[in-house]
Amino acid sequence: MKTLIKNGHIVTAVDDYHADLLIDDGVIMQIGKNLSAQADDVLDAQGLLILPGGIDVHTHFDMPFGGTTSSDDFETGTRAAAFGGTTTIIDFAIQQRGHSAQEAFETWLGKAEGKASIDYGFHMILSEVTPATLADMGWLVDRGVTSFKLFTAYPGVFMVSDGEIFQALQRAGEIGALIAMHAENGSVIDVLVQQALAKGHTEPKYHALTRPPQAEAEATHRVIALAEMANSPVYFVHLSALQALDEVTMARDKGQAVFAETCPQYLFLDYTNYEEEGFNGAKYVMSPPLRTHEHAPHLWRGLAGNDLQVVSTDHCPFCMKEQKILGRDDFSKIPNGAPGVETRLSLLYDATVRQSRMSLNRFVEITSTSPAKIFGLFPRKGTIAVGSDADLVIFDPEGSMLWSAKTHHMRVDYNPYEGRVTQGAIRYVYSRGEKIVDNGQYFGKPGRGQFLVRNHFVKP
Ligand code: URP
Ligand code: ZN
Ligand code: ZN
Ligand code: ZN
Repeated sequence: MKTLIKNGHIVTAVDDYHADLLIDDGVIMQIGKNLSAQADDVLDAQGLLILPGGIDVHTHFDMPFGGTTSSDDFETGTRAAAFGGTTTIIDFAIQQRGHSAQEAFETWLGKAEGKASIDYGFHMILSEVTPATLADMGWLVDRGVTSFKLFTAYPGVFMVSDGEIFQALQRAGEIGALIAMHAENGSVIDVLVQQALAKGHTEPKYHALTRPPQAEAEATHRVIALAEMANSPVYFVHLSALQALDEVTMARDKGQAVFAETCPQYLFLDYTNYEEEGFNGAKYVMSPPLRTHEHAPHLWRGLAGNDLQVVSTDHCPFCMKEQKILGRDDFSKIPNGAPGVETRLSLLYDATVRQSRMSLNRFVEITSTSPAKIFGLFPRKGTIAVGSDADLVIFDPEGSMLWSAKTHHMRVDYNPYEGRVTQGAIRYVYSRGEKIVDNGQYFGKPGRGQFLVRNHFVKP
């Protein structure tokens, strides 16, 4: 199967030019002016932007958490991702205490198989670090799971000790893996939560008020020191607070291999969302929480200066009706997480073109190229080049999108950006050369997505 895309405006992290693209067998075969190959399908992309497909390195599909399961599975989640221009996701498999990480890997492969319609990889969450899990880390790296997430938060569930984090960092350094950290001081947060509840403070906003930015900064600082002692790289997920960014910036200025992502919710929403009427604040209950308005400008600065290299979503949807409601009388029982896999590219594209916050090249870099490089997928993914997978998102800069739970494709009954209009419309999405989105219609078959065996971590 050959596809020829004519007259496109191709943008990567480093290029910006007009050319034709020839795709053969899922891979980009040729890029040039006035290509005249025989093709089964020809698309005229005059006036449209051709970008590398989005890579979202932080999703939670079909994830058991907070007494329930995230509402998107690998079928609905990857479909929503594709509608939003994302052609690769990396989801989190979970090693549960007392069970092996190998078993978790098999379980998560089973969740995705026959369902995913775009390509996917896995990180492995380790909820304990033992001789067995340390051994499993090597087994997993050999199978393309080259990153591991550990938590300094959620005591009793995921939180591990500094000694465990240190050992995992050492081991990761030895085997070419990357440790991803959820950095919030879970012990302090637990005390603050109990104190709030004892005072009868049960509403959603207390989720944020009991997780101060200093709790994130402290854990970020601590983990940076652990990584320095282990002489290993470290990656912070869902960084939200300016004080945590300061820690990352300082470490990077010293030359330490420290990397971090932020998420659209921390750029486009803020603490005031928790004060929406009734129980609506529950829509935004996630960890770390939305911060007050002074944090976001610092995150934009971090993205501009490459102290933040990635924007992922932390897509972890729970329906208001049956799931968020579990915390109606106690904010600490609201399942943590929010939807966003479909909205990421559009929100950020809008921020680049309409609000001139960054160049198109940088937009591609933080949403596709850097994630591919940091997580061992480049150059197969994350760019438009001869030999790369033909994963493409084709934007109409003149179009716009209106976001609503009534029309989005995520399986969740609200959208945090309800009513927002973003400039730029996603017209076509290609995954390995197959047109899976065509002007709002979906052609991606469940099960066509492939498991990605990722390479060892190499400092980009
Ligand atoms: O609230 C969140 N972030 N839920 C998903 C789990 C995690 O910590 O990433
Ligand atoms: Zn088991
Ligand atoms: Zn987390
Ligand atoms: Zn997460």
